[in-house]
Amino acid sequence: MDDKLNLRRCIENLSLNPGAEMVRYGRAKKDILSLAQGEGDMPTPDFIMEGVRKAMMAGKTFYGPVLGYEEVRQEVSNYYTRLYNINMPTNRIFMTGSGTTAMHFALNALLDKGDEVVALTPIWKNLLGAVELAQAKFREVALRETEGQWQLDMDRLISACTKKTKVILITTPSNPAGWVMSREEMQVLLEFARSQGIWIVSDEVYGRIIYDRPHAPSFLEVAESEDRLFIINSFSKAWAMTGWRMGWLVGPAQSENAIRDIALYNNLCPPSLTQYAAMEALRHGEPFIRQQLDLWQSNMDFLFKRFETIDRIHAVCPQSTFYAFFRVENEPDCLTLARRLIDEAGLSLAPGCAFGKIGTGYMRLCFAVSQKKLDEAVDRLEKALK
Ligand SMILES: Cc1ncc(COP(=O)(O)O)c(C=O)c1O
Repeated sequence: MDDKLNLRRCIENLSLNPGAEMVRYGRAKKDILSLAQGEGDMPTPDFIMEGVRKAMMAGKTFYGPVLGYEEVRQEVSNYYTRLYNINMPTNRIFMTGSGTTAMHFALNALLDKGDEVVALTPIWKNLLGAVELAQAKFREVALRETEGQWQLDMDRLISACTKKTKVILITTPSNPAGWVMSREEMQVLLEFARSQGIWIVSDEVYGRIIYDRPHAPSFLEVAESEDRLFIINSFSKAWAMTGWRMGWLVGPAQSENAIRDIALYNNLCPPSLTQYAAMEALRHGEPFIRQQLDLWQSNMDFLFKRFETIDRIHAVCPQSTFYAFFRVENEPDCLTLARRLIDEAGLSLAPGCAFGKIGTGYMRLCFAVSQKKLDEAVDRLEKALK
């Protein structure tokens, strides 16, 4: 970086993001089939578009309240009652201009320079980047891949926490591993965090992308309302709204003023029209989610059948999300492999090292695409690995 700019040290020292780097590398080339990013290829459904069109014509184009329209916050509250059977007052729900924004609001509210975060990995790189931007430090505790599944060693997670630990950072369901934290594990961790005064920040953006039940367990189901807990969520994945930029944060009611201040100085308010899209998604989105899940389940079955025929690929079938996270025999350097796949096979996948140290040697493939595209991607992968 150019010394003359004299930027903040934490910006100059940001760790590399090999995932974002590979997405850029692939985008700059022609005829690349990309399954590197975390989004499906299904457009936003019409009923959401129509709701937004109506809002637009009704003149909903002005600034709104800093933490979102009350009717949208109420709709999120109704969603928690309907689906999770929990009572969530609107003064605990903060609408944000994306899940990513919700993450920054939570971490900005909590982290001072030098604070320690214990992060359960593999983890979506942006969460670690946000810790770096807050000038805090993170310590990685890795899930273990044993006996064909990802597992949490709770004792290791707990013993990684020190007096300096301010936050335990969890992504459940996990991007990229597809692992899901159980309700019992949540209970144990929450009790430990309570006893130490540590915050839990749980990213539950993939909570609806689960194949054997209506939703993944949420910390909100085991927590008390005043627990030191922030939940990050988003409309991007389950409702096919990645480009709209809308998410929400849930925190204790006592954090409402702090989050309002952060949100005010950050972007004044979440986008108005997009909140109407979110409202339509929450009110009428369940059949669409079920339709997507059927498609992704059949994609997963198809993909893992094909993987069985490729000797060098070792993959754990995910419990949740739309990612396959797999190792390739004799390819310990996933960044080199990612670059080679783009150059030689025209296939862009995310290198596992983008998700923390444990991810080195893995690749992540997003299967939320048409089966034709998926088939073509596996053909290219198979050819490159021969
Ligand atoms: C775990 C996780 N959280 C948050 C996000 C981002 O959500 P949004 O699009 O709402 O910023 C992603 C996107 O890939 C993700 O994987």
